[in-house]
Amino acid sequence: MKSKARSLGTQLVLSLGIVLSIFTITQAISSYDLARVGVNAVLDSRLSNVAQRVRDMFEDAIPRHSAGSLNADDIVVLVWEPGLERPARTTDSAVIFDRDAAPGFSDQFVNREAWRVYTLVAPDNDVVQVAQRISVRQRMAEASAFRGLLPVFILIPAVWLAVYVCVRRSFRVLKRLGQQARAIDSAHLVPLSARGLPVELIPFVCSINRMIRRLDASMKLERDFIADAAHELRTPLTALKLQADNLEGDIAPSSEERFRALRQTIDRTSQLVAQLLQLARADSQVVETATDEPEVTHVVTSVVADLLPIARAKGIDIGAGKLSAAKVRIPESDLRALVKNLVDNALRYTPEWGSVNLRVFAVHGRAHIEVTDTGPGIPDALLTRVFDRFFRCNHGVEGSGLGLAIVRAIVQRHGGTISLHNRRDGQNGLRAVVTFALAGCETPGQIRGGPCVTAFSGHV
Ligand SMILES: Nc1ncnc2c1ncn2[C@@H]1O[C@H](COP(=O)(O)OP(=O)(O)OP(=O)(O)O)[C@@H](O)[C@H]1O
Ligand SMILES: [Mg+2]
Repeated sequence: MKSKARSLGTQLVLSLGIVLSIFTITQAISSYDLARVGVNAVLDSRLSNVAQRVRDMFEDAIPRHSAGSLNADDIVVLVWEPGLERPARTTDSAVIFDRDAAPGFSDQFVNREAWRVYTLVAPDNDVVQVAQRISVRQRMAEASAFRGLLPVFILIPAVWLAVYVCVRRSFRVLKRLGQQARAIDSAHLVPLSARGLPVELIPFVCSINRMIRRLDASMKLERDFIADAAHELRTPLTALKLQADNLEGDIAPSSEERFRALRQTIDRTSQLVAQLLQLARADSQVVETATDEPEVTHVVTSVVADLLPIARAKGIDIGAGKLSAAKVRIPESDLRALVKNLVDNALRYTPEWGSVNLRVFAVHGRAHIEVTDTGPGIPDALLTRVFDRFFRCNHGVEGSGLGLAIVRAIVQRHGGTISLHNRRDGQNGLRAVVTFALAGCETPGQIRGGPCVTAFSGHV
């Protein structure tokens, strides 16, 4: 079963965001409690202050008979004189507290309401009681504590935003590393740069670089081996061909058929060896500076002229649509090999009486070479694989599976792009499009076989 890839960035943002939010909320809850306790302490001190002022100076300001209940938020003041059953003075005659309560603060339940009462005994034994409804005190304390909570509502989204921005910034360096790694391919095996990387990533990058160097060395060995083997095989094959030529007159008529098959095998083997050499050359890391700037149209028409006999033999209508002037800075031999392989494929896989069409045009500083045929096309899933060496998907037709590998090597070597598309215009067939920078429009990477822009795409 395929497991879904999880983003490290998202995990970090989530875990850091959750931890910081828990801290912030815990902090907010404890500040809320502290604020409530603080407000209650202030309200208590106000009750005791009022009681002392009444005892010392303002006892006469308290009415002897209050008209009735005051505003529920107000504090209630009672003054008891010795010997009297009811308070001598009160600001609210509807409530009477326990005059025998111990001096200081007490919570009393009067008229179905809880009260906070401060009781003060004066030197003349008068008792002053100052009280406030607990519900009012709670409301005041909560309102004040809640105001302290407001910044938290802004703080939590701000914390998440800050975590997100920080994680994104830290991951920018990983993204840059990924871009460098993406640019690595068989034609561009350069080590990753460790500049500006956090120390934690350096061992990882060093391991990758060691692997790249090993890969580079083994690919070089493989290329050298193929080139040497192909080179060594050329001489005996030429000798074999010469011997077959010399024997031609002495073959008995009964053996002629078998002799022709033998010659065909020698020709195919020579062709394979020539292709291997061409691939080894195109794959080589040494990119000589191209001094010539071939006109693409000339190369295309000359290749078509060379392959015309094959087209005629199959009754294929090979023609050129648009052929605009476009010069590229690529050795003509490479360009010729590339076009030849594409046109050869088109002719080889298109059935008899089909058609092959070529176009050359320049757009946005790039020369485009387009070869379209009416063949069977290539299954979409194999469109990228046909560039692999020796990979073939049409075994009914002869071939060695090296043509497109050579094309890809040339494209990569000169910073070009290639894409294969199955036609979607109501016709069967394949469209191969190769682009190269026009001479004079190259970027430095494109001239020296640097990281080339190579697309091996499916259909449009
Ligand atoms: N125009 C095309 N139409 C259909 N299939 C194609 C076309 N071009 C390539 N292919 C498929 O891609 C495979 C690989 O092509 P490639 O040119 O690399 O090798 P080849 O043509 O088989 O042999 P050779 O090395 O002689 O060119 C082919 O075997 C064929 O199946
Ligand atoms: Mg081919």
